[in-house]
Amino acid sequence: MPRLLGRKTIRYDSVTSTNEVLKALALEGIETGTLVTAKVQTHGRGRLERRWESPEGGLWMSVLFEMPPGFDSSRYGLLPLMAGASVATAILMEHGLDAGVKWPNDVLIAGRKACGILGEIFTVGDRHLAIIGIGINVNNRVQVGYDFSSGTTSIAEEFGKSVKTEVLENTVLEELEFRHDLLVSGEYDKILEDWRELSVTLGRKVHIVMPGGEMTGIARDIDPTGALLVEMDDVIHKVNAGDCRHLE
Ligand code: BTN
Repeated sequence: MPRLLGRKTIRYDSVTSTNEVLKALALEGIETGTLVTAKVQTHGRGRLERRWESPEGGLWMSVLFEMPPGFDSSRYGLLPLMAGASVATAILMEHGLDAGVKWPNDVLIAGRKACGILGEIFTVGDRHLAIIGIGINVNNRVQVGYDFSSGTTSIAEEFGKSVKTEVLENTVLEELEFRHDLLVSGEYDKILEDWRELSVTLGRKVHIVMPGGEMTGIARDIDPTGALLVEMDDVIHKVNAGDCRHLE
């Protein structure tokens, strides 16, 4: 069992969004490490203001992180990468499925999206907080046409039968706590290296849609802040945010 994450856990049958509920609790001062889960989300939120369908059977969870005093704010971009790496590792450990991380925030199995991550950062007084929202398609039907960048799948679909969400949830928390401890102790290189090892994006030809434009190139690496480094016409471009599609 993890020591910090999920020490306080609040489970709902149905909420609008676990991120939204946890944020309200955080504003009221709830403790670091609190986990909120729901069987169903009526207004599940995805990246870039998208809707995240969250029917029964999936794992919909949000965890509250607190950054230590003096935390280097340029490293906030590592949070979703850590979450993705934790989920991919947990899926591999529990179900033996070959899960990998796709920049920036997705976990793929056999090239299709099984998990999305939504991170939010904010301050309450002098506390620097982050909510990590994790949505894993486990036994639920999957959302079709979520975005342009990949198909979707679920663990049950890949595994061939229904699986226990509680077991996966616990392993995700353990993995996340391991990476949380690396973050708190400033071991950023280990977080980056772990993500690189699980990456299914690096080395691929990618098409990126960014807030201000589009580009196609080869994904070469991530930088210390978690930005993707894309080579196009012999020049390396730094991409801080956007949607990424694997082309080859
Ligand atoms: C994405 O890929 O766009 C991110 C999806 C994140 C979904 C999870 S489900 C639990 C948490 N609560 C939300 O409303 N969203 C996140």
